[in-house]
Amino acid sequence: MIDTILVTGGAGFIGSAVCRHLVKTGAYRVINLDRLTYAGNLDSLREIESDPNYRFVQGDIGDRDLVLGLLEAEKVTGIMHLAAESHVDRSIDGPAAFIETNVVGTFQLLDAALKYWSGLGDERRKRFRFHHISTDEVFGDLPFDGGLFTEETPYAPSSPYSASKAASDHLVRAWHHTYGLPVVLSNCSNNYGPYHFPEKLIPLVILNGLEGKSLPVYGAGANVRDWLFVEDHARALELVLTRGEVGESYNIGGREERTNLSVVETICDLLDARAPLPSGPRRELIRFVTDRPGHDRRYAIDASKIERELGWRPAETFDSGLAKTVDWYLANEWWWRPIREQRYAGERLGAA
Ligand code: NAD
Ligand code: DAU
Repeated sequence: MIDTILVTGGAGFIGSAVCRHLVKTGAYRVINLDRLTYAGNLDSLREIESDPNYRFVQGDIGDRDLVLGLLEAEKVTGIMHLAAESHVDRSIDGPAAFIETNVVGTFQLLDAALKYWSGLGDERRKRFRFHHISTDEVFGDLPFDGGLFTEETPYAPSSPYSASKAASDHLVRAWHHTYGLPVVLSNCSNNYGPYHFPEKLIPLVILNGLEGKSLPVYGAGANVRDWLFVEDHARALELVLTRGEVGESYNIGGREERTNLSVVETICDLLDARAPLPSGPRRELIRFVTDRPGHDRRYAIDASKIERELGWRPAETFDSGLAKTVDWYLANEWWWRPIREQRYAGERLGAA
């Protein structure tokens, strides 16, 4: 029997990569439930939109009756829960939506999943999984000079976003411990790659750089992130869903730590090599701007558990993945131009 996976947030950056990956394997039927907030974009799913093993449903994870009806009608065998408000700066400007979707929405989804799972026959109950896709930001702030996040690192979230993701991780674990819902969790580092909404650092800098606009770097650009190509994350998530041990969490990361300034400088150099500006090198467009409040200094993942237990390794290095990403944005203006110019005019797209 083919697995039927309900992917929440499948019109977002990582969710769309997961939908594309699962459908292309031919081994899954994918139901994508997405509310289509500003971050959701069906253009990211064009490659699979007419595949018979793919279905899109517009709706809110907080709509318990809708979710329960979908689980029952589609005989879902697993849930991959990615729907969330995901941008730290927006969570600082307006935390309410983060509590509503990431905390209350996850509760409603768990409630529907538990009701559905409880009514399944033995074999289907055993097979069912609820996979919560979370972030390394729940572990908080690492010093510049050492330390890695393991699965045992205590939670210490800093921003409204990371606090809301920590809360949802706790809810998911509680539904396992209290009600026996078969859950798996994963906490991943910063993703980058195609179809990344251009309010996040890497796509923002690529597109501003392409257009010769200023490149905003928070503070001194010394903060460190651990970067992973999004398609490597999608493969890891399939492994966690299908082979992860129930009740366990898996840290996922690329072992590719970079300061923000070095990321921005590398993008400048990649763009200069492909599309030089008459005005000179793009590094001259870098502007140091007011820092993010509560800005975590460093994130870094110890990925040895998923490497050892599930045999996962990233296929891309940061250099190969970033070059691919820059090339993708150069070749796919049809995807990003409407976002930059029309659909989101007046909305925050980073401090451009
Ligand atoms: P994104 O902002 O690009 O996409 C989020 C998607 O969720 C959008 O399509 C949006 O329409 C949808 N959505 C939002 N609220 C919804 C609701 N109430 N009901 C249904 N759909 C809703 O996010 P992303 O960067 O793809 O992140 C996906 C998940 O992965 C999030 O849970 C995030 O916390 C986690 N994560 C992200 C990263 C990263 O680097 N981007 C790293 C680790 C973990
Ligand atoms: O670590 C995983 C997290 O990575 C995910 O959970 C989040 O959903 C995802 O958005 C991402 O969070 P960050 O805050 O790390 O990503 P962002 O692209 O917003 O910022 C990356 C770094 O770059 C961060 O240190 C802030 C800095 N920055 C960001 C922007 C938008 C800048 O210097 N200038 C900018 O304009």
